[in-house]
This record gives sequence, structure tokens and C-alpha cells, in this order.
Amino acid sequence: MSSITFCGEFIIKKSGREIIAELQSRREKARLGGGQARIDKQHSLGKLTARERINVLLDEGSFEETDMFVVHRIRDFGMDGKTIPGDGVVTGSGKVNGKLIYVYAQDFTVFGGSLSSDHAKKIVKIMKLAIQNKAPIVGLNDSGGARIQEGVESLGGYADVFLQNALASGVIPQISMIMGPCAGGAVYSPAMTDFTFMVKDTSYMFVTGPDVVKTVTSEEVTAEELGGAETHTTISSVADGAFNNDIEALTILRQFLNFLPSNNSQGANIRQTQDPIRRVSLSLDTLIPENPNLPYDMKELIKSIADQYDFFELQENYAKNILIGFIRLAGQTVGVVANQPMVLAGCLDIDSSRKAARFVRFCDAFNIPILTLVDVPGFMPGTAQEYGGIIKHGAKLLFAYAEATTPKVTLITRKAYGGAYDVMSSKHLRGDANYAWPTAEIAVMGAKGAVEILFRDELNNPEQIEKRTTDYEERFANPFIAAERGFLDDVIIPSNSRFRLIQAFSKLKNKTQKNPNKKFGNIPL
Ligand code: HXC
Repeated sequence: MSSITFCGEFIIKKSGREIIAELQSRREKARLGGGQARIDKQHSLGKLTARERINVLLDEGSFEETDMFVVHRIRDFGMDGKTIPGDGVVTGSGKVNGKLIYVYAQDFTVFGGSLSSDHAKKIVKIMKLAIQNKAPIVGLNDSGGARIQEGVESLGGYADVFLQNALASGVIPQISMIMGPCAGGAVYSPAMTDFTFMVKDTSYMFVTGPDVVKTVTSEEVTAEELGGAETHTTISSVADGAFNNDIEALTILRQFLNFLPSNNSQGANIRQTQDPIRRVSLSLDTLIPENPNLPYDMKELIKSIADQYDFFELQENYAKNILIGFIRLAGQTVGVVANQPMVLAGCLDIDSSRKAARFVRFCDAFNIPILTLVDVPGFMPGTAQEYGGIIKHGAKLLFAYAEATTPKVTLITRKAYGGAYDVMSSKHLRGDANYAWPTAEIAVMGAKGAVEILFRDELNNPEQIEKRTTDYEERFANPFIAAERGFLDDVIIPSNSRFRLIQAFSKLKNKTQKNPNKKFGNIPL
């Protein structure tokens, strides 16, 4: 094979080998991104390059790159002729543990990973493919935001990406890993995805950086304080987790992807397990302290029932009074929502309601069954909560559980008081299997509070109040009234919980449930 090229007056024929060599050389140039010096700088900061990151994330040899030769068309501010193939983002598809995913990785060595309209077009193309082919999309974000030399076209590019984020939502899982500075528009696409993770010390997310903050609000704040991993995993809840370095982040991301289905028509992932279904955890029989005011660690229960004791917790350091994350039961992925009595006695407040509501909706969108573990003394009282809108935020969780049609199994371990009893996937909200341990207390409120309201005129008689409290406890501090009404399906032995929960979920495998026909429900956002 040969081809003909005009070069001045001569006609030069290139051999097939030369053509291939030229292709190889173009590829090499593209792979070098912004050049060795900038790659070295990236490495000196402890960061991998975009292509190195993709190699760690994907199964070996599975990456197929698209749009490697795309360049920008910016002519202003000295950008004419200053093009780098790929234009600051590496896009393509590959496999994670044998399953197809689509990926884009922004290349900070090329114009700081900033987004031009052509850079955006590459991302949009890969997102459309992911939606069409029903595979998850992963973004590895490392970007200085809109390409400053370009102007409005880059803003348009962002909006094109945001649109695809909205269209993909609920169709395929979307995951963002923040691996460098992400400023301006660079933060909003991750915010629209299902899960956002960060790398500690090297990644930041903010709408405007510390300098702008100082100009506008006179606040002096470092980039780390404003938008580092610590901030976003403990204060803002923008990020679902943070990792020590790029390798750890990408390795754990591979494990995380294993929990997720590829799309909304697939159902929860199933993986073979050697962990016996009937494994008994005797320690659970004594997990609940005799004194109802003492806490215990709900994570012990979650780990005890999970295959291989493996709990992938999300938002571990935010709103710690509620736990969310994934486990497997008999190999099947299950989303867990659990009150944590160790923090704020497990009360529901604004932050925990929002945290759990979004997770319930993710699970429901992707048909992942939900296990709800309940030990909740109620909603958190106080002006801070009321002024902050606990009514509306609490309603988010209520709404999310009520509309969820995915299999829902609930286990009440101890307290299930008041409105929080209703909210936490009760029978009344279409819980499919509702269980309690014999230690469960299901009531409108705790005995002390109830007696103080019902017998206010006896408050100066401590003996009488104590007797009333004991009476109330005996009447209500058990699961049997709820069981008599059919609000619970059974009262189970704690040590046998793993088996009973596995049984419940296995019977729900073919569950179908439909909500009334509508465009969408109006969840109290
Ligand atoms: C073009 C950019 C760029 C950008 C960085 N670079 N950001 N080029 N557009 N937005 C280039 C730099 O010129 C530099 O080029 C290289 O990338 C590395 O940048 P450094 O500043 O040397 O790196 P570092 O010190 O690590 O700082 C990284 C940074 C900083 C924090 C991201 O570059 C920065 O503040 N950039 C601007 C952030 C920003 O304000 N973006 C616009 C947001 S507005 P050379 O050639 O020297 O290597 C926005 C609106 C969209 O995004 C809204 C949509 C809703």
C-alpha cells in the first residue's frame, strides 16, 4: 500500500510503513500531553498523569481511546497554533473487572486540564456513548475550569456536559474522582454525578478560589480549608469519600464499581461468595446494652451480617448519626441505611436526612435492594434544626422511602420512636419485610418523655412518676404490639439476622411494583 502527497512540485509516495510510523509518531506526541517537564511536575506533586490514571483504573490492556487527535480552535491570546492533540482530556472505554465502563481523564499538563469547547465535545461524546451502551461513566477530574482564552464557547461546553449529566442520571451510574484542582465550572459536573470522591492533599473543589473569596467577602482561607478533601467529606458533604493518593483512590474505585450495576435495567450486582448463608453471629445476641440509654456501634451489626464482613461505607465522616453504604448478602449488592446510636443517639437531623435520602434514591433508581437498620429516638429537636428546615429535609427521606419500589427490608434493633419510626422504611411506606429484634421499642416517644406529658400534675411525686414510667415501658417498650398489628412481619433472634435478611431479599428477587403514572414526583428539594 502506498499513498500520494503533494509537496511543492514533487509527488512523494509514502510507503505503508512510513504511514504507520507517522501514525505512531502522532500517537506518541498525543501521549506526551503538555510535555515531559509538565509530566515531571505532575509526578513531583505525587500525582499521576491522565493516562497513568486510566491504566490503574482499567483492566490491563482494555483501554480503547477515542478522539486522541482533537485540538482546540482558539485563536485569541496567543493560542493560535498552540495546539496539543487531545486538548487536555483523554477519553475512551475499557473494562473494570471485565465490565465495560466509559471514562474521561482530564490532563492537567495540557492547559491545566481547562475545558475548551472541543475538550467538552470529547466528554459529551463519551457520555452519550455511555448512555447509549448502558455502561457507567467515570470522570477523573483535574482541571482549572473554563479555558480562559476561549470565552463563552467554553461556558457552552460546560452546559453541554451538564445536560448529559442530567440525562444520564438514573440511567447509568456516574462517578467522579477529583484528582487535582477543580475550579469554577469544573465542580458542577461532578456535583451532578451520583458519587464524588477526592484525593487528599492534591485535590480541591471550589466555585471560586481563595483570592476571589478574599476580594468579595474579605475572608482569608487556604485552598485546602476552602475546598480540600477534609472540608468536602466532613462539612459540605460534596464528596462521598477521600483517599490518600492516586493509586489508592483508583484501586478503591475499582472495588466500588464492583458493587454497582451497569445501568438501570440490570438489577443489583451478584458475585459468588464462600460466606455461608446460615453463618450465625452470637455476639449480636448481646449487642444491645441492658441500659437503653447506652449506645452501641451499629457498624458491628452491619459487618456481622455482610458477606466477608465487608461494608463499603460512604460519607463516613459526615452526619455520622446515620450510616450509608453497600454490603453484599449471599453475593447480591444491598444498600444499607442505618441509624448510628453512637452519634447523637442516632437521631434524624437535617444532615442525616439529606445524606440518607439521596442514597435511597440512588439505590431505587438502579434497583439495588435497601436494608434499613433502625435505632432512632426521633427527629432532633431545637431551633437550629427548625430554622434550618428539618421539616423539609426530613421529608426528603420520608419521600425517598415512600416512592422507592426496589426491595426494602427493615430491621428494628432497639428504638423506633415517633415520626422517625414511620420514616425508616416502615411497613406503612411499603416495607416488604419488616423485622424487629426482641429488644425493639416501638412507641410514639420514650417512656420518660411520654409520662412527663401524660402525667404532668404528678411531676412532684417522683415515686409515682417512676411507676408510671415502668408501666409505659412494659406496655410499649417491646416489638409485640407492632407485631400484633402486622406492622412487623416477625420478631427474630439477633444472631440469626444474616440468614433471615438473606432469605427476605432472595424472596424479593422478582418483585415488581409500580407507582402511579407521572412525569416525576416533586420531592421536597
Ligand atoms: C487556561 C489554564 C487555566 C484555565 C490553569 N491554566 N487554569 N489555562 N484556562 N482556566 C494553565 C496555566 O496557565 C498553566 O499553564 C497551567 O495551566 C498550570 O497552571 P498553574 O497555575 O501553573 O498551576 P497551579 O499553580 O497548580 O494552579 C492551578 C489552578 C490555577 C489553581 C487551577 O491555575 C488557577 O487558579 N486557574 C484558574 C482557575 C479559574 O479561575 N478558572 C476559571 C473558572 S470560571 P502553563 O502554560 O504555565 O503550564 C469557570 C466558569 C464556568 O470555570 C462556569 C460554568 C458553570
